[in-house]
Amino acid sequence: MAESAQMAEREPVFWALIPAAGIGRRMGLDRPKQYLTLGSRTILAHTLSIFLEHPRIRGVVLVLGPDVDPDALDLPLAGGRLFRVAGGAERADSVQNGLDFLSERAHGDDWVLVHDAARPCLPASDVDRLLRELRDDPVGGLLACPSTDTIKWSDGAGRVEHSLERERVWRALTPQMFRLDMLRRANAQARSGGHAVTDEASAIEYLGEHPRLIEGSAMNIKITRAEDLELARLYLMQQGRLDGGYRP
Ligand code: CTP
Ligand code: MG
Repeated sequence: MAESAQMAEREPVFWALIPAAGIGRRMGLDRPKQYLTLGSRTILAHTLSIFLEHPRIRGVVLVLGPDVDPDALDLPLAGGRLFRVAGGAERADSVQNGLDFLSERAHGDDWVLVHDAARPCLPASDVDRLLRELRDDPVGGLLACPSTDTIKWSDGAGRVEHSLERERVWRALTPQMFRLDMLRRANAQARSGGHAVTDEASAIEYLGEHPRLIEGSAMNIKITRAEDLELARLYLMQQGRLDGGYRP
């Protein structure tokens, strides 16, 4: 009784987990996209700064690919709040490695915000909104954008089977915010069940839970193809975050 009252009063703790172990195949360049430069900093450095500069984020777990020399990276100053972990073959494997690392030093009820390294244009105000809206939620949720296009469900043979009701279609973004224990269990179960886990919410959905949709900015694009770089540059500039000169 006393213990549960204490639990309820515990101020929520928030961690960030940044999967950055991908190779950026669709970008088709000589290095993973998170190491390309926008202004004077890498995409990875832009993304990390959002969380390292946020006063409510206790620490940031950065998941890196196997061939990366962390000392060669231009990482922002972190004051002991940045932890590096090795990634895995798929995004879900990289996330699991980060969660395993966190489980050694965080409480099972702590919140984890998983955010793609390839989304450097996330506005800090969207992080604030997630923390505010979900801090007392029993499940957690994700940033998402209502679809502006009508979405067609194909029959798998190049014809429309039916159209989805546009008002109910959302595009999933990141961060996706769940409690450490629940997410770790969900991710492990979904992977061992052979489900395709392309985001944390789908793993939670396999548990039968319903993550909350929190509307986020459409500026929060995932840099995927070469043409996305110009757009990301524009969005960073609009947010006053593109210091320094242009470095191709
Ligand atoms: N990611 C990861 N570990 C993997 C694969 C992806 O940590 N094994 C990370 C990427 O670095 C990226 C995020 O997950 O920040 C989203 O993945 P995606 O945009 O698909 O990046 P890549 O997998 O690098 O790109 P591609 O699919 O084009 O190869
Ligand atoms: Mg990928």
